[in-house]
Amino acid sequence: MDERERILIVDDEMSIRRLLRQKLSRQDHPCEEAGSAKQALDKMKANPAALIILDIKMPGKSGIELLPEIKANYAGTAVIMATAITETGIAVQCMKQGADDYVCKPFNLDEVVLSVDKALAKRRLELQIKEYQEHLQEKVEQQTKEIRRLFLGAIEALVFALEAKDNYTAGHSRRVTKIALAIGKELSLPKDDIEDLRWGSLLHDVGKIAVDQSIQNKPGELTPDEYAHIMIHSQIGAGIVKPVVNDRVVEMIEHHHDRYDGTGLNQTVAGEDIPLGARILAVADAFDAMTSDRPYRPAMDVEEALQEIRRCTGTQFDPVVASAFLKISASLTVVERSQATVSTGTASKTSKTKRVR
Ligand SMILES: [Fe+2]
Repeated sequence: MDERERILIVDDEMSIRRLLRQKLSRQDHPCEEAGSAKQALDKMKANPAALIILDIKMPGKSGIELLPEIKANYAGTAVIMATAITETGIAVQCMKQGADDYVCKPFNLDEVVLSVDKALAKRRLELQIKEYQEHLQEKVEQQTKEIRRLFLGAIEALVFALEAKDNYTAGHSRRVTKIALAIGKELSLPKDDIEDLRWGSLLHDVGKIAVDQSIQNKPGELTPDEYAHIMIHSQIGAGIVKPVVNDRVVEMIEHHHDRYDGTGLNQTVAGEDIPLGARILAVADAFDAMTSDRPYRPAMDVEEALQEIRRCTGTQFDPVVASAFLKISASLTVVERSQATVSTGTASKTSKTKRVR
């Protein structure tokens, strides 16, 4: 006998409780008794029963009043109403409110046992279905997560492959991610926002797959049309990742070239209406681009790049984000700063952050 399938007999008459208890115990049903609604609630609170046989008429709180309370707090407990033969109409009402069955006084004890067995079997089945559904839900969630992880991994690999093709951009997304996460931590962003920032940074340039490489790597100034062509990568990148990331990551990628003052190409938002992740990415992206050699200019040294970030604070960059970046810039690792160090003294005065491609 499953110990969890205890039966609570609730009746103000002790003789009736004993009668039912004797009969049900002989059928291997462990039983407990309660002489009032209050006692029943106390016993349920201490150890919920699998089934309650509930007397409709009791002094104080009646079985009819207790039923909704039991159903609301112990959904997994089956309830059989016990009623006088003259009150079966009330018992039927109780079934409409969630009771599983009713038995009439004076009891036919075999019928009571049958009703109990039926109600317990129904309960077992309901529990099994519930468990199956929960398990299924969990499995679907796990598989969805796994598919998402694999897909994001594939896009990430695509970004790294794109960058690896080109000496100028190799490792750019990884370095931007490190810088963006350091800014996010400095701004005390919550864990979920940091995770979004990680994906936004790693994937921010995936749209460059649609950019003409001869324009991307063109030495010298771009024509306005060429610049506009390169800038489509923000929109295209957002579209690529949309099926597998949340809206915050999509918006981060879409707006990562937005200027804080709203004067960027085809820009629709400005200031704090630009998603915070995109404002962080803008600084991290610009710093890494400035301190990397590009076909159109040599790398700036770190101090010059920092000065450029300061100069463009409030116009290109969000002052709060830029200030957080400047605070942590001294702690950037050798990897983030190596290219700039190698190029010290060769930075061109014509290099501007607006030329970040
Ligand atoms: Fe970009």
